[in-house]
Amino acid sequence: MNMTVQQLHVENVKHSAAALMAALAGRAPKLAIVLGSGLGGLADRVEGAVTLPYAELPGFPVLTVQGHTGALVAGKLNGVDVVVLKGRKHFYETDDPYPLKTMVRTLRAVGVEVLFLSNAAGSLRAPIGVSQLMLITDHINALGLNPLTGANDETFGPRFFGMSDAWDPALSEKISQAAVAEMIPLHRGVYLALRGPSFETPAEIRMIKGWGADAVGMSSVPECLIARHCGMKVVGVSCITNMGAGLSDEKLSHAHTLENAAKGAANFERLVIAAVPRLVEA
Ligand code: HPA
Repeated sequence: MNMTVQQLHVENVKHSAAALMAALAGRAPKLAIVLGSGLGGLADRVEGAVTLPYAELPGFPVLTVQGHTGALVAGKLNGVDVVVLKGRKHFYETDDPYPLKTMVRTLRAVGVEVLFLSNAAGSLRAPIGVSQLMLITDHINALGLNPLTGANDETFGPRFFGMSDAWDPALSEKISQAAVAEMIPLHRGVYLALRGPSFETPAEIRMIKGWGADAVGMSSVPECLIARHCGMKVVGVSCITNMGAGLSDEKLSHAHTLENAAKGAANFERLVIAAVPRLVEA
């Protein structure tokens, strides 16, 4: 019998969750961290790391972009059980929402309750400078798609759901407290996601600034939507790799993004490590 796309997805989540459960060997992480472009170094800070390449997790993304290697790393960060995801699929690479759905729903299926998203982003506000960090307080979905359109599988979540506290205010506050404790400057702002793969024109940057965005990127919004749909809490931090097009003279490229993400990565790692115990407190 031929399976439908949805049936195959349910099977993939089941098999990936079983593979992840086996690798976790009795540990029960409540927190998963998705590492954005150039921020993969945090995975090397995981203690007692067990690495599962995405290729061993059915339905997980097959990655194509330089700077994104596909692997899940489970272990401890600052004494806390976590799962770290190195790499994800962007909607400039595919129109298929299932790899991302499989990734997020597999985490949910093994008991993860909080998803910490990170990304490289362009700043739209002069005070939010290059290589600095921005706590994502809200988002604007300008991708032109939502990964949850089409038939809804009620076993994962409801057809309609609210997004007013999509980026969890209480947990975000704990990240702010960790930043203060570590003396890491942390801006707050609205992240707007566009599909890419081109960077924006200066006119587009002026437009989205007017819409109320503080930073722009090509990720994290789909992950947030899928996670909120299945009842997970979401927090996020952007690492600013450039000023939006037309706001400075720099030439934008993926190499430039990776180079400046690396400059912000040390603070990003320190912030996440300090925040992790606070995010799993009862
Ligand atoms: N625009 C979109 N995505 C990005 C940018 C940008 O300026 N910088 C890093 N990711």
